[in-house]
Amino acid sequence: MIVDSIINNAKAYLKGEIVDCCFAIEEGKIQKIGKETHMPKADQKIDLHHLLVIPGVIDSHVHLRDENKAYKETFQTGTAAAAAGGVTTVLDMPNNSPMTMSVETLRNRMQTAARRVLVNVGFYSEFPVDKQKIKAIAEEGAFGFKLFMAEQLGGLNVDDDQALREAFEATAQAEVPVAVHAEDHQLLKGAVEKSKLAHKNDMNAFLKAHSENVESASVERLLAINAQIEKMHLHVCHISTQKAVQAVAEAKRADKNVTCEVTPHHLLLTREDYEKAGTSALTMPPLRSRENVDALWKALNDGSIDTVGSDHAPHTLQEKDAATIWEVKVGVPGLETTLPLILTAVHKNRVTFSRVLEVLCEKPAEIFHLTDRGKLDEGKNADLTVVDFNAKFKIDVAGFKSKAKFSPFNKLEMQGKPVKTFVNGELVMDEGEIVVKPGSGLVIRRAHS
Ligand code: DOR
Ligand code: ZN
Ligand code: ZN
Repeated sequence: MIVDSIINNAKAYLKGEIVDCCFAIEEGKIQKIGKETHMPKADQKIDLHHLLVIPGVIDSHVHLRDENKAYKETFQTGTAAAAAGGVTTVLDMPNNSPMTMSVETLRNRMQTAARRVLVNVGFYSEFPVDKQKIKAIAEEGAFGFKLFMAEQLGGLNVDDDQALREAFEATAQAEVPVAVHAEDHQLLKGAVEKSKLAHKNDMNAFLKAHSENVESASVERLLAINAQIEKMHLHVCHISTQKAVQAVAEAKRADKNVTCEVTPHHLLLTREDYEKAGTSALTMPPLRSRENVDALWKALNDGSIDTVGSDHAPHTLQEKDAATIWEVKVGVPGLETTLPLILTAVHKNRVTFSRVLEVLCEKPAEIFHLTDRGKLDEGKNADLTVVDFNAKFKIDVAGFKSKAKFSPFNKLEMQGKPVKTFVNGELVMDEGEIVVKPGSGLVIRRAHS
């Protein structure tokens, strides 16, 4: 048999150790992993000169924008950023224009994306107004429902426990997870209004309004509802406080179906970093104290936190520099910095390499039912990221493929760099360059059993 390609002289972490190996790729899948002498013949051979291959990173928290927010990011620029960052699969958040919250908006988004994307892209939906529609949206291929608790974005009244319960029941029936942005709407609204009345419109006012309690209260409320619904899967996005992490860990110990995510910025920055980075680093939830950050690392290492997601949230520079703090668009781009930041943390002994593979690849695949991705196994899709583990370089926003050319990590020295990205067996990024045409990526849909 002659396969499509063979990747030679690779290293990979297989069965608990780093070994020399080769990969045979056929029709987008890993056909064989083994020694060079055991490889079939191939149309094409790629020599990696002993660089490390990891499963393509799965980033389950990305805002790709496009459609009416294309001025911030497009499917093409966003997925180019993914490929450049060693990310082979992204799940797109629904706070778009139009909002992804119906079969029709989801279908349109999938159609537009199909012509433009460079990596695998799946989609979340916000909740529709009519909970009867949840099943159809799931059947259309949404990977989960995203619920933004901080404000009313979709069709579900975030202040109404009974409405949440009924909608969550429907997601459990449809066997899709609910990913939440957990900041309590009422608490937040009250605090923001109070600040505005007192003419407090600065960073301190923002941090005070987006307090630790605003997050932990929301997480506790959602966990209580989750505990009442059999088979419901609650996934807490960008967890940022010790109290919320402890609540999630406790729910896990009680065998509840809950998982959570942390972002690189919540792991690697503290609120003191706002002094230097200013409003460009403003996110929701905001950066926290050292004590919280230490708790996040501990939770990442002990398994209380399941995944690292970038929360890639591109905006224009003007939007990041608005007149008052309340008008600043929150979020930072992260697709091109997540993997280097986390590999650098491995060098600093903050997390083990095997744990990194779990939180960036295996766990997101498991949580979001990406059954043929996230692992280096024969038969899986050939989503492979080649990293130069020792390469040192500086993050440089000017070189970002994302339209959002800012980062709180700009100019920071990294050790560990993605140098090639293969998506479904195809080389998409080579030495920082995108080498395929828009549309070469795949719109993916959640498979239902
Ligand atoms: O920082 C954030 N940016 N938090 C959010 O919840 C929304 C996101 C965005 O879409 O920009
Ligand atoms: Zn969020
Ligand atoms: Zn987000």
